[in-house]
This record gives sequence, structure tokens and C-alpha cells, in this order.
Amino acid sequence: MIVGFLIVFLASSCSAFVGVNYGTDGDNLPTPQQVVDFLQRQQISHVRIFDTDAGLLQAFAGSNIQVLVGIPNEEILSVGKSNASAVDWVKKNVMTYLPGTNITGIVVGSQVLTDYSSAAASLVSTMRYIHAALVAANLDDQVKVSTPHGTAVIQNWFPPSAAVFNQSYAETVMRPMLDFLADSSSYFMLNFYPLAIYAQNQQTMSIDFALFRPNSGQIDSSTNLLYTNLFETVIDGVYSAMAALNFTGMPLVVSETGWPSRGDPAEVAVSLDNAATYASNFVRHILNNTGTPRRPGLAMNAYMYELFNEDMRQGATSEKNYGLFYPDQTPVYTVDLTGASLASGNGTRVPSWCIAKEGMSTSSLQAALDYACGQGRADCSQLQPGQQCYFPDTVLDHASYAFNKYYQKAMMAPGSCDFAGVATVTFTDPSHGQCRFPTIVPQQNTTSPNVTRSFGQSFKIPPSTGLLFLSVALFWS
Ligand SMILES: *[C@@H]1O[C@H](CO)[C@@H](O)[C@H](O)[C@H]1NC(C)=O
Ligand SMILES: *[C@@H]1O[C@H](CO)[C@@H](O)[C@H](O)[C@H]1NC(C)=O
Ligand SMILES: *[C@@H]1O[C@H](CO)[C@@H](O)[C@H](O)[C@H]1NC(C)=O
Ligand SMILES: *[C@@H]1O[C@H](CO)[C@@H](O)[C@H](O)[C@H]1NC(C)=O
Ligand SMILES: *[C@@H]1O[C@H](CO)[C@@H](O)[C@H](O)[C@H]1NC(C)=O
Ligand SMILES: *[C@@H]1O[C@H](CO)[C@@H](O)[C@H](O)[C@H]1NC(C)=O
Ligand SMILES: *[C@@H]1O[C@H](CO)[C@@H](O)[C@H](O)[C@H]1NC(C)=O
Ligand SMILES: *[C@@H]1O[C@H](CO)[C@@H](O)[C@H](O)[C@H]1NC(C)=O
Repeated sequence: MIVGFLIVFLASSCSAFVGVNYGTDGDNLPTPQQVVDFLQRQQISHVRIFDTDAGLLQAFAGSNIQVLVGIPNEEILSVGKSNASAVDWVKKNVMTYLPGTNITGIVVGSQVLTDYSSAAASLVSTMRYIHAALVAANLDDQVKVSTPHGTAVIQNWFPPSAAVFNQSYAETVMRPMLDFLADSSSYFMLNFYPLAIYAQNQQTMSIDFALFRPNSGQIDSSTNLLYTNLFETVIDGVYSAMAALNFTGMPLVVSETGWPSRGDPAEVAVSLDNAATYASNFVRHILNNTGTPRRPGLAMNAYMYELFNEDMRQGATSEKNYGLFYPDQTPVYTVDLTGASLASGNGTRVPSWCIAKEGMSTSSLQAALDYACGQGRADCSQLQPGQQCYFPDTVLDHASYAFNKYYQKAMMAPGSCDFAGVATVTFTDPSHGQCRFPTIVPQQNTTSPNVTRSFGQSFKIPPSTGLLFLSVALFWS
């Protein structure tokens, strides 16, 4: 049993995080300081902004929030002109704010290869110059350099084992970029917009596949791996494409993902319900370290797109409605990015459990156990001799069971999994044998129905999300 708990602890200690993209394309958004206060109340500790706006960066000072800053596509050529221009940029836009504002990454451009090809030839050299400036300032451990790609950088998505990078730039840009990312211990960034892919493939793809809902899945006949959702399919495609260039083990960060809650009447599959379902299933997938069929259990960090609805964004109505929150800071739908209980009601919360920490003294565990089952009024009947959770008969195991009953009774409220510091929240179900650890959040149906289909027809990946929404809107208007 000790071994079981050890695994639980290892799994939760290296758990991935979910942060947010914070865009400012709205005329009704809170001030930067209000946003930072709001993020702290929400316990959101990782944020990406799209530029290096001084007002935003100053607001983050002293906040314990880790910030990724961005170089817009139009500035890549000037920032990356030379070592000297990169040094100037880093001094002015990063070093000015450190260490008060915890800048942990510089995001160079966005979807450059597919959406801004005029800077493609300078992309890697710009990243190298910026990194060199960070090395010179001894900041390269703390601040990583990367660039987000759209899913359109891949060709031959399906089956995922056959995916490769677009051959127009696989050797010329991707290989040197992957070399750079590996040498500098950075990560590959991917923007993943499932709705855009689904909308182009409705004939062959079910909405359940896009939303992580139970479905029969598809088999990659080369690897015999079963794919039950689009996200894992695409991520394994990226791993295959990297492997085709001999890069394995490169960490992957989902730099943007989300589903809009509102759209034009002609936009398919846009609804509040789908947005909430996608977000909660995605977050659960990340916080659970689910990984992919090719890399089960591999942690992957992610940034939701996006924090607020932005009413000034161009394009279809959906473009303005990707927010998790309205500008007045009320939730568009309930999704708990931290896995702690911030939401009210069961809604779309991530399941979590409360268990005893390893290495605590038996007397403090016993005291907390007595409290939970006594004054705390947790139902500890299953711990009686002959009941399902009596074995293993250790204080540690009994305390875990009792702590969890108390925590669930308290609706997973913040602070209800503490017991003077001897308890901790886990996102991995600690149930063992006949002993079930309940959670108030309904768990996903994990029984996979029988597989009925395998990859036949190839799915199409749209060239870029923005264009797709625009073209859908134009087509129907
Ligand atoms: C910044 O974030 C890193 C985690 O990447 C952390 O180790 C460090 O202590 C933070 N720095 C400050 C000043 O908060
Ligand atoms: C830029 O700086 C890096 C590291 O300081 C150095 O290796 C490289 O040769 C420099 N490049 C130019 C063009 O000066
Ligand atoms: C590959 O990239 C080139 C250049 O951007 C583009 O013209 C071509 O359509 C892309 N091919 C595929 C299969 O996406
Ligand atoms: C990948 O590595 C293998 C073995 O080291 C080598 O034979 C192959 O040529 C490499 N492929 C590429 C594309 O570099
Ligand atoms: C959580 O991860 C485990 C493996 O670590 C996996 O079996 C399970 O399906 C995952 N659950 C969800 C909801 O992703
Ligand atoms: C939460 O779910 C549990 C069991 O599914 C139910 O008994 C309880 O009433 C729900 N609470 C709220 C606030 O919805
Ligand atoms: C889980 O899915 C299976 C197959 O679709 C279904 O028969 C079963 O009733 C589901 N269970 C729950 C608890 O939803
Ligand atoms: C799934 O497949 C198994 C073995 O082929 C079969 O016994 C079972 O009835 C199938 N279940 C469903 C729901 O089709």
C-alpha cells in the first residue's frame, strides 16, 4: 500500500499546469491590476500575454504569477536583425521587469510558418539571438525561448504515426528549430483549435471525438493504438513528426486551446455546452497527466485560449467569444483550472481526492483521523473491521480514507483538505481493491465501447483558424 501512495505522490508532484492567454482586444476589460488580482483569487499562476506592454508587466510585479511575454510577428525582423538588436530588446522588455515580474518565457511570433511566412527565414536566428542575450545576462535557465505553431505545420495527420512536418520547411526551419529548442532545454509550442478541425471534417469525425466524450475511437493500424479523441491524435501526430526528424522526448506545451461559447448561426458546433465540455475535459486531461497513446502519462502544460471574451476581435462572432470569463469577471461557464474547488456546484469540476501525506508522524495522522471521523462527522463506517476499507489496517490508509470523506462532504472546498498540514489533494483516484474513494465530481465514463472504425479517409487540417472562421462566415452571409 505504501507503494501505491508513493505512485500517487510522484504523479501529483510533477503534475502539469493549465494557465491562460490574456489578450486585451476589448473596450470593456478590467484594468491590468484588477486582472492580476482576479487571477490571484482564481489561483491561476501561469499567464501568457501577447506583447510586452509596460502596464501589464508592471501589474504582474510581486504577484507570484509566471508570465510568458510575446514578440508580435511584425516585430520579428527588427528584433532579430542582429545580436545587438536582440540584446536591446531583452534589456528593455524583459530585464527591466525582472525579478519583480516573473517572466519565464519569450514567445517569438505566432504561427509564423503558416501565417507569416515572410519572417520564416529569420525565425530561428531571432530565437537564437534572444537566447544568446539571455545567456549573456545569465537568465537562460529562468527564461525560455520558443514559438507557437499552428496544426497546419503538419501534413498527413491521419493516422498519427504517419504525420510529418510540411516538407517545404521540415529541413530548412523545423530541424534547426528543434535543435535550438533541445540545446536550450526549451519546449515545442502548439496551438490546438479542435473546432476548426472538426468543422472541416464533420462528415468523417464525430463531435464526441472532438470533445473528449465517449466514442468508439479510431485505430492507427500501424501502431495498433486506439485514439478516442482529436487532441491525443494531433499531439501524437506532432510526436511522430518530431520523431521523423529524430527528435524524441521534446517537451510540448499547448500554447493556445479553447472552444467558443457563442457564434454566428451558421457556425457549426459552437455552443455554451460544447465550450464547457471541451474546457473541462481538456483541463482534466492535462491535470491528470493523461498523456497520449504514444506517450501515456507524459506531462504537458497548457494555456487556455482565453481569459476574457474580447469584443474587438475581428472575424466571426466566435472569435470574440473564446473567453472563460466575461469582462465583468463572471464566468462564462464553470471550469476549474487549478483542480482545486473554485467553482460553486458540481458543474464541470475536475475530480479530486484528499489523502494523507507521506512522511507525517503517526500521532498527527491519528489526531487528524480522529477529528475527521469524530467532530468532523465524516462517514467512516467503511473503516470498521470487516468493511471494505479496513485493510490495509494502517493509520496512513485509514487517515486517507477519512480525509477524503471529509473533503467530499465539504464539497471539496478550499482549505478542507489540510488537517493541520498532514493532508493533500490528489487528482488520481486512490481507490484500491474493494475500497472506493468517492468524489462528488462525476467521473468520465472510462469504459471504451468496442472499436468499430479505423482510419480510412484522411482528415483535413484547415490552413489557419482565423481564416477558417472568416471563410465560414463569408460563405453563409
Ligand atoms: C519564478 O518562477 C519560477 C518557476 O519557474 C520559480 O522557481 C521562481 O522562484 C519564481 N521567481 C520569483 C521571483 O517569484
Ligand atoms: C551572436 O551571439 C552569439 C552568442 O553570444 C554568438 O555565438 C554569435 O556568433 C553572435 N552572432 C553574431 C552574428 O555576432
Ligand atoms: C506546405 O507549405 C507550403 C508553403 O507554406 C504550402 O504552400 C503548402 O500548401 C503546404 N503543404 C501542405 C500539405 O500543407
Ligand atoms: C535518424 O537517426 C538514425 C539512427 O541514428 C539515422 O540512421 C537516420 O539517418 C537519422 N535520420 C534523420 C532524418 O536524421
Ligand atoms: C487519467 O490518467 C490515467 C493514467 O494515468 C488514465 O488511465 C485515465 O484514463 C486518465 N483519466 C482521464 C479522465 O483522462
Ligand atoms: C453534487 O453531486 C452530488 C452527487 O452527484 C449531489 O448529491 C449533490 O447534490 C451535488 N451538489 C450540487 C451543489 O450540485
Ligand atoms: C458508459 O458507457 C457505456 C457504453 O457507451 C454505457 O453502456 C454505460 O451505461 C456508461 N456508463 C455510465 C455510468 O454512463
Ligand atoms: C464487444 O466485443 C466483445 C468481444 O468481441 C463482445 O463480446 C461484446 O459483446 C462487444 N460489446 C458490444 C457492446 O458490442
